[in-house]
Amino acid sequence: MLQRPRRNRKSEVIRQMVQETHISPANLIFPLFIVEGKNVKTEVASMPGIYRHSIDNLLREVEACARLGLMSFDLFPNIEESLKDKYATESYRNESLYLRAIREVKKNFPEVCVITDVAMDPYSSDGHDGLVENGEILNDETLGILAKMALAHAQAGADIVAPSDMMDGRVGYIRNALDENKFTNVSIMSYTAKYASAFYGPFRDALDSAPKFGDKKSYQMNPANQREALIEANLDESEGADFLMVKPALVYLDVIKLLKDNTELPVAAYNVSGEYAMLKAAAQRGWLNEQRSTMEVLMSIRRAGATAILTYHAKEVLEKGWL
Ligand code: PBG
Repeated sequence: MLQRPRRNRKSEVIRQMVQETHISPANLIFPLFIVEGKNVKTEVASMPGIYRHSIDNLLREVEACARLGLMSFDLFPNIEESLKDKYATESYRNESLYLRAIREVKKNFPEVCVITDVAMDPYSSDGHDGLVENGEILNDETLGILAKMALAHAQAGADIVAPSDMMDGRVGYIRNALDENKFTNVSIMSYTAKYASAFYGPFRDALDSAPKFGDKKSYQMNPANQREALIEANLDESEGADFLMVKPALVYLDVIKLLKDNTELPVAAYNVSGEYAMLKAAAQRGWLNEQRSTMEVLMSIRRAGATAILTYHAKEVLEKGWL
């Protein structure tokens, strides 16, 4: 045999020498859930180790993460039912929980990167990402609301706004609104290929944001489709996105690879709540080795082509020294 691939696996030093993929803390983005109150920290039942934090605890959490070298955060609010309405007006009210949280984080830790979620669902009495009329999710009528929301996030200090709503044309619309208001330096991380996935279940528990009727299939993508992701990618790129995101990550590794091969922009991937929950559940039962399976999941997402990974594992892998 002229070629014996095992020679390059014969010792730890050689294995590391030829290792193709690495993960650094700089690649990780930690999603954090925020809730109203003082000194609140309640675990999300379906996401062991993940909490809803009141703003005071959120600041402690950001500080603890920053000490570990974890510097990027994606914030999501749990909004009281009484504040939700058809037009998601709470999303751009100056004293809202979410805008206060952004301001507080950036005031106390100006060096961290704050990513904000732009979509109506946490604030909408319909629980949908867009404006609902007669059971239909309206596209163009939603864009103005998303732009107001993105602008409010920028004014509060967001470094990156991340539209997760899947309305057509929203990246260009938001880019325009930001630029017109002199926020030319605020980036857009677009949820480019966001699928209508069952793996968002635990997240909707965390935010109490499940749709009140129907599903999200008229705006989120069909899990059976790959080529359609290229249509979305081309549009987002032409509308001024700075990052293209694929979501979920683990069950869409082929889509991550496809985008990686077809764009020069950085590709991000969202290792979503259900992907986290299933790994935790198996690990808790002793059915999987938690460290090895977690690292294998993150490595696979990097190997597929993701530059940045949004993952609920971000803090634990640093805390436990798994990186
Ligand atoms: C809301 C949004 C969702 C997630 C991120 N932003 C849920 C949804 O679209 O229903 C899911 C994140 C996760 O499951 O971890 N637009």
